[in-house]
Amino acid sequence: MKNDFIPVAEPVLGAIERELLLDAFDSGWISAGGTYNKKLEEDFSSYCDMDYGSTVSNGTVALHLAVRALDLVSGDEVIVPNFNGIYGAYALLYEGVTPVPVDAEYGTWNIDTQLIEERITPKTKAIMVVHLYGHPCNMNPILELAKKYNLYIIEDAAEAHGAEYNGRKAGSFGDISTFSFFSNKIITSGEGGIVLTNDAEIYKKVEYFKNQCFHVDGPRNFTHEDIGYNYRLTNLQSAIAYAQFLQIDKLVDARIAINKKYREMLQDIEGISFQDEREYAKNVFWMTGIIIDSKKAGFTRNQLEDHLARNNIQTRRLFVGMDRQPVLKKYDYFFEESFPVSDILADNGLYLPTSSLLTDSNINRITETIKQLI
Ligand SMILES: Cc1ncc(COP(=O)(O)O)c(C=O)c1O
Repeated sequence: MKNDFIPVAEPVLGAIERELLLDAFDSGWISAGGTYNKKLEEDFSSYCDMDYGSTVSNGTVALHLAVRALDLVSGDEVIVPNFNGIYGAYALLYEGVTPVPVDAEYGTWNIDTQLIEERITPKTKAIMVVHLYGHPCNMNPILELAKKYNLYIIEDAAEAHGAEYNGRKAGSFGDISTFSFFSNKIITSGEGGIVLTNDAEIYKKVEYFKNQCFHVDGPRNFTHEDIGYNYRLTNLQSAIAYAQFLQIDKLVDARIAINKKYREMLQDIEGISFQDEREYAKNVFWMTGIIIDSKKAGFTRNQLEDHLARNNIQTRRLFVGMDRQPVLKKYDYFFEESFPVSDILADNGLYLPTSSLLTDSNINRITETIKQLI
């Protein structure tokens, strides 16, 4: 790899992370249930204005725990955004729950709230909302539907640490909310995640399932009444995540500043559009995504991707619709529906390097390289 390589994402790890990690190490408490797990659970949940937090090994198992804690079972249906990574669908499929996909809306790239109601059936038990690329979903219509049809909300805020909807933090809307601390996320512990809730019973269930279904209150006598998992996060990882959490405002601001700079540098280029920031939203721009309108731009997404790669600049395509996922096609879920907005995003979108470490001169180089294609 040449040393002028710009990765699409890179964690920012410094003195505070090192100090807290070594503190956890020196304490001898390296597995789960340590002081940094507790600090992270308490402080991250209050940051999101939620009562309970439970650290977990990653954002995917966080979603699985949500499914188990809400007692969703085979035959139940859950509304999901069609345009998304596979994670939420996996969490449902682990339990045989049917994902019912709804197309995205232009602009925010999130689930189109106007299309949800027509997909609700007597089997629908929950709506899974995912705040994609840092932009919160339009929550009021979703909350109204959840109330009207008595549905749970599973809120996947893996990409939206610090994002806000009408001044309220992403992660504060779900009956159960989940975050990822994977290394490309706004705050990270390498691998990791957290589940939040305001409901004491749901919290208990999350702790129960994540701890191999050991009795929460009863004796630890190695008898188990349900199928459990080891989905715990170590104290070492929690120490890193906690150090990152202490700097969350700075890390969020860095993403927003990067997005602003990209917009300024690319504003004159026809055919490149960015994710919106709606009036209700604080978009934390986890990643700066762009959509290429090839007729206007004169080049396609794939050409841009190749051109940047040849110039040692890494990008990633945006997600692929659930309707196109080979793994989901093996099931009978997706009938003959079409998802035109998801298709546009999947076929024409990519995200540019967006690590909080990115310098202005990196962004200049990236945007100048893009301009060479015109
Ligand atoms: C929206 C979303 N949900 C869930 C996940 C899963 O998180 P993890 O990779 O920590 O399992 C991710 C990221 O990977 C994600 O982007």
